[in-house]
Amino acid sequence: MKTQFLKPIAMSHEVDFYDGIYGHLATDPQVEVRRETYGEDLGQASWMTAGEARRWFNLLQLHSGQKVLEVACGSGGVTCAMAHHTRAACVGVDINAHGIEAAKNRAERDGISARVSFQVVDAGGRLPFPTESFDAVFCNDSINHLPGRAAVLQDWHRLLRPGGRILFTDPIVVTGQLSNEEIRARSSIGFFLFTPVGHNERLLEQAGFTIREVQDVTDAVASVSRKWRESRARRRERLVPLEGVEGFEGLQCFLEAVYILASERRLSRYMYLAEK
Ligand SMILES: C[S@@+](CC[C@H](N)C(=O)[O-])C[C@H]1O[C@@H](n2cnc3c(N)ncnc32)[C@H](O)[C@@H]1O
Repeated sequence: MKTQFLKPIAMSHEVDFYDGIYGHLATDPQVEVRRETYGEDLGQASWMTAGEARRWFNLLQLHSGQKVLEVACGSGGVTCAMAHHTRAACVGVDINAHGIEAAKNRAERDGISARVSFQVVDAGGRLPFPTESFDAVFCNDSINHLPGRAAVLQDWHRLLRPGGRILFTDPIVVTGQLSNEEIRARSSIGFFLFTPVGHNERLLEQAGFTIREVQDVTDAVASVSRKWRESRARRRERLVPLEGVEGFEGLQCFLEAVYILASERRLSRYMYLAEK
């Protein structure tokens, strides 16, 4: 039976997260916060460290002449890093137009726009690419924003050539008790799918994938969210004029909820590597 989701209810402190981030990428306090949060800044808007990114690019076993799709690529920093690291051609899609504009500018600046392209796409539906047109699909910390997980995985399976790999993380795997207020705070930035432990494995197999690796990668969520929140708090005076008081506090509440739930292992992040 198909799941019907209620439409998100606008809340007074709902957080305009991705527009805020992708719209102010180059402002001084954002750059400083990113440096303090990630150490090595790939341009990610997620819980992924640069070390994780490199390890995961390697797990996709990509090389020059191949083609990879990054679903929900944000402002394209990770897509460009993947193109540099693997030498493969990369296509990034995201629903956020500010993110895609920044991504195109980044590829241009890096001199790799012949090999890296970006499109605004709602990845919750069938993706606008031919069957068996990619060697890999990569999606970091974003599958939780897409409704209809079974259909999403089936579509990724369709896009892959035989033997192709997918690697995605799900940072919203339910591994403990959550109060309604915690769920509200953790999902205040948009559509969220909370997934019971073991469910992604079942859906991957139903979509026709062979699972190669599943890893608990929750530590990075606790560490990145704590550093991010503390670094922002130290720059409150400079961030409030950009974000407004409500926007600033809303994002701080969100980051606090992320930290508490990850450090107590009530919400976990898992990495899934699977093959067609
Ligand atoms: C946590 S960010 C991760 C971005 C990037 N993968 C990274 O690691 O930095 C989640 C991304 O999902 C995107 N997103 C949310 N809903 C989407 C949808 N329906 N289709 C495509 N992208 C979506 C957001 O715009 C945002 O860029």
